[in-house]
Amino acid sequence: MAIFNGIAAEYDDWYSQKKGAFVDRVETDLALSMLKLESGMTVLDVGCGTGNFSMKLAGMGCIVTGIDVSEEMLNVAREKAAEKSLSISYLQMDATELIYQEEIFDAVVSIAAVEFIEDTAQAVKEMFRVAKVGGQILIGTINADSDWGDYYQAKKLQGNSIYRYAAFKTIDDLKAWELGKLAETGACLFIPPFAAEEEFTIEREKELSETMRGGYICALWRK
Ligand SMILES: C[S@@+](CC[C@H](N)C(=O)[O-])C[C@H]1O[C@@H](n2cnc3c(N)ncnc32)[C@H](O)[C@@H]1O
Repeated sequence: MAIFNGIAAEYDDWYSQKKGAFVDRVETDLALSMLKLESGMTVLDVGCGTGNFSMKLAGMGCIVTGIDVSEEMLNVAREKAAEKSLSISYLQMDATELIYQEEIFDAVVSIAAVEFIEDTAQAVKEMFRVAKVGGQILIGTINADSDWGDYYQAKKLQGNSIYRYAAFKTIDDLKAWELGKLAETGACLFIPPFAAEEEFTIEREKELSETMRGGYICALWRK
């Protein structure tokens, strides 16, 4: 079910707000600090949406394929890549049924998407299958066990159109996935969702990392 079709046109609005841009920055920094990427590596971005992370990977010289069930999200992604003259293959595909053979990609990443994938276990199995032996698999998601998790869970219970389909994970849920050797886990977004806009600074993020649970968690495996 392509639940994001209806919000594709507004999806990127979040990133143009101060909070959204900050959230994107810390989440991206965390993922890129964990991944060991080099120009020319093949990367599959699962649940790529409007291509925000795919574009960063392509900007680093990676050969990127982004897949998503939502054709509308992909259309936005295609327009943005064309505007920036980035060559990225965007394909409509379900994460639970990847069309690729085994061991194709140097890295398989999925950013803020697994919480929306109904059969997460099957999607994770597919991500592992298409990664090369020795390849990296990185999954980033909202932390169920955090203020941000509570915030989105409340949206889900209120019947918010997108979040009512989400199932949030904890770091223990991620650690239980069999994606090869778990190399590293990380967290970010220590500033809570209800903080005032001016509090969204890197200094405050560092300060709160001492006492708060990160709202966003990432795990990296090596196949
Ligand atoms: C919150 S968006 C994240 C998009 C992007 N990764 C980002 O960080 O901005 C979640 C995306 O997962 C996609 N998605 C949900 N279920 C999926 C599935 N079964 N297969 C592929 N994509 C899926 C949605 O269509 C949506 O574009």
